[in-house]
Amino acid sequence: MRELRTQVAIIGAGPAGLLLGQMLQRDGIESIVLERRGREYVEKRVRAGVIEYGIANLLEEAGAGERMRREGLEHHGVELRFNNVSHRIALSELSEGKTITVYGQQEVVKDLIDLRLAAGAPLQFDSEVTAIEGLQSQRASVVVNGVEGEFRVTCDFVAGCDGSFGVANTAIPKSLLRRHERTYPFSWLGILAEAAPATDELIYCRHENGFALYSLRSPTLSRLYLGVRPDETLEQWSDGRIWDELNTRLATEEMPEISQGPIIERSITAMRSVVVEPMRFGRLFLAGDAAHIVPPTGAKGMNLALADVRVLFQALRAQLTEGDSQLIDSYSATCLERVWRAEEFSNYMTQMLHPSYEDDFENGVQMARLRQAVTSKEASTVLARNYVDLNSA
Ligand code: APR
Ligand code: PHB
Repeated sequence: MRELRTQVAIIGAGPAGLLLGQMLQRDGIESIVLERRGREYVEKRVRAGVIEYGIANLLEEAGAGERMRREGLEHHGVELRFNNVSHRIALSELSEGKTITVYGQQEVVKDLIDLRLAAGAPLQFDSEVTAIEGLQSQRASVVVNGVEGEFRVTCDFVAGCDGSFGVANTAIPKSLLRRHERTYPFSWLGILAEAAPATDELIYCRHENGFALYSLRSPTLSRLYLGVRPDETLEQWSDGRIWDELNTRLATEEMPEISQGPIIERSITAMRSVVVEPMRFGRLFLAGDAAHIVPPTGAKGMNLALADVRVLFQALRAQLTEGDSQLIDSYSATCLERVWRAEEFSNYMTQMLHPSYEDDFENGVQMARLRQAVTSKEASTVLARNYVDLNSA
C-alpha cells in the first residue's frame, strides 16, 4: 500500500478540519486534509450562517477573514417574536459593543479551501478514511480510500474533524466512550429564497403553530426556517404552504407579510443534542460535530467547531514544536466545559421557542421564559452575551 508521512492527519474538510489545516500550515506544521466528498459538494452544502464575535476574530487572525469582513453582514441585535409581537434584544448594547457576522458556513469553507490550495498544502477530496490505527503507539496512521486506490498516512496525531457521521469517534474504545444524547420532538424545514429580506436582523419566533426563524444571506437572499413535526417530509410542504405558514407565524401588525421569491434550496433537519466524551484518545483528537451536536436554535454549531480548533491548534503546536504535552493533556476537559455551556444555551433557546403540541404546562413555562428574556435586563443580558460570544468568553 502507498504510504505518506505527515505530522497531523486531518479527517474532514468541514469548517473544523479546514481551519485546523490553515492554522497549522501558517505555523509550518505539516498536515494533510482528507475529505470523503467532492469539492463541489462541500462548497455547496447550505448550513449555518451566524459567526460569533470572537470566532470572526479567530478567522481573521488565521488569515481567513478577508472576504467575511467584506461581504459578511454585521448585526447588532436580534428579535424575539411571540404572540405576533417583536421584541429586540440589543446584542451590542448588552455586550460592550460586540456584534455577530452573518456569513454562510459554505462561504467559510470556500475561503479556507482557496487558501489551502493557494498555499499548495495537501487537501484530497473523494478520499475516505476507512480505518484509524496505532492511536496508543509511537505513530498513528489512517487508511484512506482515495481516487487512485488505497493508501496509508502515518502521522504523529489524527484530528477527527469528520462530523457526526464520521469514523473518528468510533475509534475510541466503547469502554471509555460516553455519549450523552437528546432528540427533540420536532425538525426544521429550511429554505433559501431569492427574496430581499424583509428584516435587518434575525427574527426568532414562537407561534402556537410552531417555531419560525427569519435569517438571511445577502441583500437578495433570505434564509427561513419552520419548526415541523419530525415525521414530516418535503413532499408535504408545497411552496405555497411554506410561505403561508411563514406568514402566519411571523406576521406582526407592522409587517403582516414577508417578501417571497423562488425557493432555490430546501431541506429538513432533525434536531439533536449530542456530547461525546472524552474528546481525546491517545493520538486522536475530536473537534466539531465529531464530538458534539447542538440544535441550531442558538446558532452555535459552527462556532463551537471553530472554537475547538483554536484549542486544538495551540495544543498540537505546543507538543510538536516544544514537546510540551500539557495542553494536549487538558484538551478534552478544556473543550467540554465550553461545549456544555453551548449545549445548555442551545437547549434553552430551543425549548423556549418550540411550542409543545401536547403539553400545555410546558407552553406556560415557555411563555414565562420568553417574557422574562425580553423584560428583565439581567435575563436579556445573559441571552445577548451567550448569543454574541459564548465560545470566547
Ligand atoms: N473520511 C473523510 N472525510 C469524512 C469522513 C471519512 N470517513 N467522514 C466524514 N467526513 C467528512 C464529511 O464529508 C464532512 O465534509 O467530514 C466533514 C465534516 O464536516 P462538517 O460536517 O461540516 O463538520 P465540522 O467541520 O465539525 O463543522 C461543524 O457543520 O453540521 C454543521 O452545525 C454544524 O455548523 C456546524 C458545522
Ligand atoms: C441561518 O442563517 O442559517 C441560521 C441563523 C440562526 C440560527 C440557525 C441558522 O440559529
